[in-house]
Amino acid sequence: MTPMSLSCDGIVSRARAAFETTPAALDGLAREFTAQMASGLAGAGGSLKMLRTFTRQPTGRESGRIVVVDWGGTKGRVGLVALSGDGSARVVNEDVFTFSDGDKQGTAARVFDVVAAAIGRVVAAHPPADYPLGFVYSFPARLERIDRAIALALTKGWSVVDLEGQDVVALLTEALRRRELSRVTVTAVGNDTVATLAQQSYRARGADHRARPADVGLILGTGTNQAADLGTAGIRNLESGNFDGVAALETRYDAALDRELVDPKPGAQRLEKMASGRYLGELLRRVVVDAARDGPAFRGLAGSAFATPFAVDSEHLSRIAADGTPERKDVETLLRELGATAEREEREALRELSSVIVRRAARLVAAALLGTLRFIDPALAEGRTIAVDGSLWGGYPGFESLVRETFVELVGRERTDRIDTIFAKDSTSTGAAVIAAAS
Ligand code: BGC
Repeated sequence: MTPMSLSCDGIVSRARAAFETTPAALDGLAREFTAQMASGLAGAGGSLKMLRTFTRQPTGRESGRIVVVDWGGTKGRVGLVALSGDGSARVVNEDVFTFSDGDKQGTAARVFDVVAAAIGRVVAAHPPADYPLGFVYSFPARLERIDRAIALALTKGWSVVDLEGQDVVALLTEALRRRELSRVTVTAVGNDTVATLAQQSYRARGADHRARPADVGLILGTGTNQAADLGTAGIRNLESGNFDGVAALETRYDAALDRELVDPKPGAQRLEKMASGRYLGELLRRVVVDAARDGPAFRGLAGSAFATPFAVDSEHLSRIAADGTPERKDVETLLRELGATAEREEREALRELSSVIVRRAARLVAAALLGTLRFIDPALAEGRTIAVDGSLWGGYPGFESLVRETFVELVGRERTDRIDTIFAKDSTSTGAAVIAAAS
């Protein structure tokens, strides 16, 4: 044993212990989640907002050409989607654009002007026509109608100065007017989780009208959230990223991250801060910086991206996990890109640390999903469908298996086999069109 390998082993085993989530703890979390769903619905408080969506389950027969807008991250997307009424959909035209840091901290009018410009580009490519528009707004919002959504505090590092309290549909409509795009009418607004759920139901029921609609829509990318069909309470946007039951399982890294961030404020988005793509790289960075302080390992990371908050992201974690080379050459290449160097043992340790952090994220998400499924069906007796989108679920090797293994640990193989998890990349555009056509 060299001093370096001893140091690396110690770092990994301490992290393993800190990020450990026992089945008993996860079961407690799932039960707390179910209880908070009930209190959120009853208006009795708790961290789950259980927001109304005014969206009905699609029949699968929705059709038409619909403009869609997807705003919820650094990349925005506008498209023209054709729904054929049989569960299939085609993106006829699409414009993907990037919001600047200035947009993220600027005024609402500035953001909506960027969006309206993209809408202008998309419709200009087709003969003049009247278009309905489905708007996916992937932040918390209190809907009052299918076409009226009052913005609540933003998440994922956005802090548009004058947005909170305003109706995002009215703001988009004003921006369309400023661009003289009066033939485009915003007819529906919905969260991305609702769009993912609606898209899955549309696809399944369009292909076979007896097919079950999706029960849950999950996004696990930069942020995380769930929507669920709660029967008489309708389809709800849980804003599950805000679930605070996870505080019971926090490590000192989670506690420090939560305390030090201004946006979202301390105490807010606790599950998201422990489980979503925006934060996992930052957690790894903090663990590594901490380890470098007290031993010989990770000294070559000083002065690299590892010194800058949020410079390590979940795409990096996915690349680290995907490295199957015995010498961890791909990790070496990645570290070089990030301005760092590390010995073989350190690269191995980095892989282990990253897997410890992502594994915990998958287990927390699994517990939250079980919380929702048990609310719908306490005995988990029926088949259920979870529709999923997002870069962490879709991009991190083996993520889905980590979630499903956790289901097995918590509720056994038989019940797990009744839960379908269906990943659909870029499902939100189709979902936006479906929501607009179904409303
Ligand atoms: C937002 C949710 C959204 C999720 C996934 C969260 O930060 O609060 O509204 O669904 O990110 O995009």
